[in-house]
Amino acid sequence: MKEKRTGFATRLGAIAATVGSAVGLGNIWRFPYQAGENGGGAYILVYLICVILLGIPIMMSEFIIGRSTHKNMKGAVQQLTPGSPFKFFAYIGVLGALLICGYYSVVCGWVIEYLWNSADGSLLGHTPEQYSDMFGSLVGTPQRCVLWTLLFLLLNFLVLSRGIQKGVERIANIMMPLLFVLLIVFCVNSLLLPGSMKGMDFLFNPKFENLGWKGVVDAMGQAFMSLSLGVTCLITYSSYFNDDSRLMKDAVTISALDTLVALLAGIVIFPAVFSFGMDPKAGPDLIFNTLPTIFQQMPGGTIWAVLFFVLLFFASITSTISLSEIPITFLIDEYKLSRTKALIITAVLMAVVAVLSALSFSTLSDVTLFGKNIFDFLDYVGPNIFMLLGGLVTAIYVGWFLKKEIIHNQLTNGGKYRSSFVQPYIIFCLRFIAPVAIIIIFMYYTGIF
Ligand code: PFF
Repeated sequence: MKEKRTGFATRLGAIAATVGSAVGLGNIWRFPYQAGENGGGAYILVYLICVILLGIPIMMSEFIIGRSTHKNMKGAVQQLTPGSPFKFFAYIGVLGALLICGYYSVVCGWVIEYLWNSADGSLLGHTPEQYSDMFGSLVGTPQRCVLWTLLFLLLNFLVLSRGIQKGVERIANIMMPLLFVLLIVFCVNSLLLPGSMKGMDFLFNPKFENLGWKGVVDAMGQAFMSLSLGVTCLITYSSYFNDDSRLMKDAVTISALDTLVALLAGIVIFPAVFSFGMDPKAGPDLIFNTLPTIFQQMPGGTIWAVLFFVLLFFASITSTISLSEIPITFLIDEYKLSRTKALIITAVLMAVVAVLSALSFSTLSDVTLFGKNIFDFLDYVGPNIFMLLGGLVTAIYVGWFLKKEIIHNQLTNGGKYRSSFVQPYIIFCLRFIAPVAIIIIFMYYTGIF
């Protein structure tokens, strides 16, 4: 029997869930180390420009598609522009979500092991070399990696099995406020450490000589990753928005909160890194090697470590929930499956990808695709190909092919509110700025310049 399509119960719940999707490992793990590698304040400046010129307009375009139809990308395109081939890009979203969630949940598995070890006291009390060995031993031990990853996915799908309101929305309503409180507590603690201002200087003082084209392209890609753009995630979530939600305001609020979390994560990490004389350019290992070294030198280090990994867990599970919802909603809408069936199919597919990438550093380390192991390959193609390509397609679709009345209707809730300069601004960004920027990124990747 066909189940009735429910939506988010409240506007606040819808915002919390979407912020939950946006705020994730991208903000707390990726943003700080990328800022560290790419000239601090200079990278942040470019990032902010990307959010304003690309992020918010593309987020709005996804919201317009989803909220106007209350359908996934394929159904939405069929309804809005019958016969349009753009509907096939729904598959990019579904495949992208499976691949991204596949490697993302492996990192979440590592987070659970670190949380576990922090709680039982075994994480702290080691030398920096030992931390590096510990991390190497975790990723190199197949059973540990696979078990933690599957445990994470189990928790993820347990929440999803409760549905949109009782699962997705409720967990976001609880976890997002807690995440903000934890982040603020961490920021205060970091800023009170001796020598913390050196970290703030490193993070916010623009060093354009360290930016380069790589920094600019990294910042654009990061904006896509961080705002969950291009894989139809926001189309899916906004298909559950109520008709009285305010798309413009909500997109700005969500983007601002997401950016705030990324900046706060930097303020948590860099003052501490400088205060304890660690390397700010440690790259992706920053969280798993550098931070434990720091926590153990702080009074009450065990508690800080536990709280930090709890924070990371909250941030990441609300993101994987949104990634998983993409195929689930697609299967329910397009194949008329029950939520339970759609969920089981998605869970099995994701578990397969996740196990393969969890084994990338051990049993399957010899398996390479384009010179990368499975995990690194997915980490590369997910954000760099699927999200960017999807973003390009969405921008072109809404900017050039969608009727202006539909856009106007969505931006003004059927004429109830004024859209003033917002509509021309969004259409200009979608028509010209986003396609040019994304094509430049593709050219950069292929080495054309
Ligand atoms: N925005 C998430 C992060 O910053 O970690 C990652 C993400 C979630 C990407 C959902 C894409 C997505 F559809």
